[in-house]
Amino acid sequence: MKIKLHVWRQLNPESKGAMETYSLDGVNPDMSFLEMMDMLNEQLIEEGKEGVAFDHDCREGVCGACSMVINGEAHGPKRETTTCQLYMRHFSDGAEIYVEPFRSGAFPIIRDLMVDRSAFDRIIQSGGFISNHSGPKPEPNSIPIDPGVAETALDAASCIGCGACVAACPNGSAMLFTAAKVSHLGMLPQGQTERYDRVQDMTTQMEEEGFGSCRNYAECEAQCPKGISIAFIGRMNSDFLKASLVEPVDRRGKMKAQ
Ligand code: SF4
Ligand code: FES
Repeated sequence: MKIKLHVWRQLNPESKGAMETYSLDGVNPDMSFLEMMDMLNEQLIEEGKEGVAFDHDCREGVCGACSMVINGEAHGPKRETTTCQLYMRHFSDGAEIYVEPFRSGAFPIIRDLMVDRSAFDRIIQSGGFISNHSGPKPEPNSIPIDPGVAETALDAASCIGCGACVAACPNGSAMLFTAAKVSHLGMLPQGQTERYDRVQDMTTQMEEEGFGSCRNYAECEAQCPKGISIAFIGRMNSDFLKASLVEPVDRRGKMKAQ
């Protein structure tokens, strides 16, 4: 296959970026998109030029690192697919492909296609955990969980924190990511102790990071590589409302003075 690539190049966060055009010949249709990017980098290095910087880790659709916008869509044109699992056979011979970084004020560009998504880490640190001391391990089946609830919690837990929802949203909202993280812990018995603190702390951190608010565009769901449903945003809003109506329960170690 012959491919014409238009790739965003930017030396550092301060410099002005621009699209650069490259031609690749001999692309195997069974190559993944990242293998095609590797091929581009080998070609650039042979020409004595700097390779394109892009993030990747697992290359198995698990880590969420391979964030890039391909032809205007986060992770490219194939639904429920990460960039590392997108194959060149999904493009036609002679295709022109535009590759850009995820664009959001809360995800500053580091270099070329790499962005800083540490805002997501700070949202997780603000409440995406269960701090109960688990004690001696109980027999797993001693905590009955409705299979439907367990399935839904598992659906939420499949979020890989890639940030495509933010890149896809015209408002740069991180509601789908935050809702998935709030829900997968808040639906299970072990997550109840901090359930209402968690939703308040994580949504507060989300706002402090500068993400936009949800306007129901549903672009996040459309471009999420794990097919996370926007129904989780409704669930998070409901928990947030309950949290603001009930007396908040302080976590152990943070009790107010009597
Ligand atoms: S909700 Fe989907 S798009 Fe957003 S971070 Fe999680 S996996 Fe990625
Ligand atoms: S490189 Fe890990 S999900 Fe793509």
